Amino acid sequence: VTTTGIEWNVHANSAIPTRRLPLRVALLGFGTVGQAVARILVERGDLAGRLELTQVFNRNVGRKRAAWTPDSVGWTDSFEEVLAAAPDVVVEAVGGIDPAHEWVTRALSSGASVVTANKLLMAAHAPELIALAARHAAHIRFEAAVAGGVPIIDAIRSGLAGDDFTRVVGILNGTCNFILSRMTDGETMAAALEQAQRRGYAEADPSSDVDGHDARAKLVLLAGVAFRRHVRTADVPAGSIRPIDAIDFRYARRLGGTIRQISMVELAREGELQAFVGPALVAEASNFARNAGAQNLVMVTGRYGGATTFSGEGAGGHPTAVAIVSDLLALARQDRRVDSLDAPWLPGTIVAPPARPYYLRFVVRDRPGILASITASLAQHDINVDAVLQEPGFPKDHLPFVVTVEACEHTALNAALDEIDAENFHAEPPLVMPVLPGEDHVAPMH
Ligand SMILES: NC(=O)c1ccc[n+]([C@@H]2O[C@H](COP(=O)([O-])OP(=O)(O)OC[C@H]3O[C@@H](n4cnc5c(N)ncnc54)[C@H](OP(=O)(O)O)[C@@H]3O)[C@@H](O)[C@H]2O)c1
Repeated sequence: VTTTGIEWNVHANSAIPTRRLPLRVALLGFGTVGQAVARILVERGDLAGRLELTQVFNRNVGRKRAAWTPDSVGWTDSFEEVLAAAPDVVVEAVGGIDPAHEWVTRALSSGASVVTANKLLMAAHAPELIALAARHAAHIRFEAAVAGGVPIIDAIRSGLAGDDFTRVVGILNGTCNFILSRMTDGETMAAALEQAQRRGYAEADPSSDVDGHDARAKLVLLAGVAFRRHVRTADVPAGSIRPIDAIDFRYARRLGGTIRQISMVELAREGELQAFVGPALVAEASNFARNAGAQNLVMVTGRYGGATTFSGEGAGGHPTAVAIVSDLLALARQDRRVDSLDAPWLPGTIVAPPARPYYLRFVVRDRPGILASITASLAQHDINVDAVLQEPGFPKDHLPFVVTVEACEHTALNAALDEIDAENFHAEPPLVMPVLPGEDHVAPMH
């Protein structure tokens, strides 16, 4: 019994009858991910004794029927029919919050376990769904919802479970990483985005990726898994990569780094998390800088084990389906004792980030005194300038330069930037990025 008032371990010592294998799997949604899941279940004969695809649910299902699936599979566009067949597991690969939320709720309430790829649903409703699953001696697993085929949730929950986690930081959005790594090689943002769309990495409307919302939902899930705390998605600050310009890569290189969309959550105090999603300056020698293309990378840090890094395909039907089928196999392995269920997620609060160094890029209409005015505002708020960089060859009415500052509080920086913003010399709004520390600071305890 926990402080959430949810009894999740009431049967801790009593064994729930093991479901007979193969687990009967109903698949909701026969799109990119759903079809890839079905492919694995159908093609991998060695899974037959453990998992059986029994139903596929999709709207207007007639047009979805695939000749390569066995005749025994039932095709339906009625969710009632899915429930009536009492599947052991429901795979949710529909996406979006509604009506997926209702379907997952009803599936768990019926005693079926759920495997979902849906980060939006889980970021919004994980605590409630985990508790609901526990009440019905069922499971909800969502490895596919974070970093696609990279088994980061299982790593945190199982392989690294002996550690006391302090930080999770990663590259959780392949589209942004693809764009930023092409920009490192000199391409413009527009050209890199077009390439990402042509290759199917980016949607026609790329906002959710480039503005950080996709990564933020995944970070909320990682925070839940690592710290057992659920924070409101909207409370996690998310910055867009849209203002990043080719010139920032030149400055970043001069500073020994490059730019990546980073998602980071750290434990400040029990129940209080510091979180950030957005472009950041990372050291050129870091794993983050070396992570190129659409790959995802997640580094988990614990008090005892130090930093452990995972990387791989963060999206795409097949890698995502691998994560789903791996979750299904985990369910098939489980003896369904309630004491192996998830611990609940308690509410968590996002608090101000730790003091950090920042990269500030200004684009100004040049006139004397601009740098003095900026450094005066910074000094007023006790912020020390680390370096000032200015590349030659830009027009005076659109002159970019960079000021890096030593570690400072975010509130102090914001106050200084408010003053600087009010000046009339800006040709573009200033760009502010945190400078991530190198990776050598995360040595394990001795
Ligand atoms: N694609 C990836 O790389 C990836 C990676 C990680 C996680 N995910 C997650 O996986 C989930 C599925 O993504 P996806 O890329 O497979 O999407 P998708 O290709 O659009 O597939 C969704 C499927 O669900 C069906 N569907 C949607 N709304 C429905 C409704 N109201 N009733 C019945 N059927 C409905 C769609 O039918 P129609 O054909 O009629 O639209 C489609 O077949 C999402 O949560 C996504 O975030 C995807």
